[in-house]
Amino acid sequence: MIQPASAVPSAALESLAASFSGRLLTAPADTAPFLTDWIKRWSGCALAVAQPDTTEDVAAIVRWCAANRVPIVPQGGNTGMVGGGIPGEDGRSLVLSTQRLRRVRAVDPLNNTLTVEAGVTLLEVQQAAREAGRLFPLSLGAEGTCNIGGNLSTNAGGVQVLRYGNARELCLGLEVVTADGQVWNGLRGLRKDNTGYDLRDLFIGAEGTLGIITAATLKMYPQPAARMTAIATVDSPHAALRLLELAQQRLSSSLTAFELMNDFCIESVARHFPASRRPLATPSPWHVLLESSDPISEEHARDSFDRLMEEAMEKELISDAAVATSLAQSEAFWTIRHHLAEAQGREGDSIKHDVSVPISAIGDFVVQTNAALEHASPGIRMVVFGHLGDGNLHYNVTAPVGGSGPAFRAQQGLFNDIVYEAVTRANGSISAEHGIGQLKRDKLSRYKSEVELKLMARLKAAFDPDNLMNPGRLLP
Ligand code: FAD
Ligand code: MLT
Ligand code: ZN
Repeated sequence: MIQPASAVPSAALESLAASFSGRLLTAPADTAPFLTDWIKRWSGCALAVAQPDTTEDVAAIVRWCAANRVPIVPQGGNTGMVGGGIPGEDGRSLVLSTQRLRRVRAVDPLNNTLTVEAGVTLLEVQQAAREAGRLFPLSLGAEGTCNIGGNLSTNAGGVQVLRYGNARELCLGLEVVTADGQVWNGLRGLRKDNTGYDLRDLFIGAEGTLGIITAATLKMYPQPAARMTAIATVDSPHAALRLLELAQQRLSSSLTAFELMNDFCIESVARHFPASRRPLATPSPWHVLLESSDPISEEHARDSFDRLMEEAMEKELISDAAVATSLAQSEAFWTIRHHLAEAQGREGDSIKHDVSVPISAIGDFVVQTNAALEHASPGIRMVVFGHLGDGNLHYNVTAPVGGSGPAFRAQQGLFNDIVYEAVTRANGSISAEHGIGQLKRDKLSRYKSEVELKLMARLKAAFDPDNLMNPGRLLP
């Protein structure tokens, strides 16, 4: 007999288990992977983990939860960075994993849309678009594992926002199970639809606090004719910004990625993933990874890209550069970039900040905030990387060598204050792309206005009056 850890009668849980035979996990060995996050920072307990196969299943589970007053924690690929998909420790919640909602429901190349269920991985969405001769441009390091439902619920960014926008801008329609267990079918493939409040945009980025996304209609784009990728060394974030400006002038909308990494990033990837060698021999405090996606031809792509790199060299914006001459080399550059999160984890304890400021303010932000942090805690190692073209940095503080442990972690508040105050002075955001989850929930009241907070609280109450959808996440 299943023993619920909360006030839910065992008969009620037995009846749910009977309806979802084999898809309601309660044994600790089965539930464990759903109860700890990717960075191993949060772990929790749950009444059970449900794995519905269809939207109707999701609706039935939500209705059961509503009837039994059981909080629901939606979860996709569990790669989130802010603990939003991990339940609390009281064991009262049900984790609703969308990983088995796996169908590609429709592909419409003429409309440039595809409709997929929430549990399809981002990589599979990209593949489905490629099979239709199109591009689904959302791309990030966790793409083999994260799910499109999770991407939309966090309004994920990644490495091509500069050209194509974040998850929100790539979504035309949603299907959602509401907090009272109804199904809203808003799977419209329309570029124009002014028929009132945009419910789709409310569910996107809501981190599971308003309802459960079960499917989405997404935009596709033409596949580029050719891609060019390079890594270049620059002296400072200011120089990187000048390179960004030049690249945008010369390549226009063909510039699809522009990523910044400080030297410690490159060094730690080389240390922990020896197959990823340093891309350039010239020592430099900063590296930029840039990519163009050319609509015309391989030759056109190479010509314009080579001219850009030559001009950047002549203007002394870069000191060295390697332009990939094959797909394998381009992938090797991206492998360095996509291993940063993992390499950082292997260096020891880190306090992470996912922030954005106006692009023009990034240079001063980095110089001044690095100095303030190093003054406050000598010996820390700054891990600074991110999507410079979007004004978004992963601005992380790693413990000194051998300095991981409670004393370092106790400085989290101090580091957060220094970074978030600098972000606020620059009119930036304390969460650029990862969301709020558990990590930043209590910071919201400090960094959002009372008016915004009140409106958000009213929306939450309207969509989820019983506060059962991912309670205690996102909202203070
Ligand atoms: P989960 O972690 O499972 O859930 C995230 C949140 O969404 C939770 O609050 C959860 O409750 C909610 N949720 C999940 N599915 C649903 C649903 N169907 N309906 C309602 N709510 C739901 N993020 C970026 O933005 N850009 C990056 O470049 C980036 N790079 C990454 C690189 C690595 C190596 C890793 C590990 C993570 C990276 N991330 C990045 C963070 C993460 O991958 C994204 O936040 C991603 O969108 C989360 O998707 P998921 O399916 O794993 O969601
Ligand atoms: C990235 O851009 O690699 C991520 O968002 C992950 C991270 O911040 O560690
Ligand atoms: Zn990122």
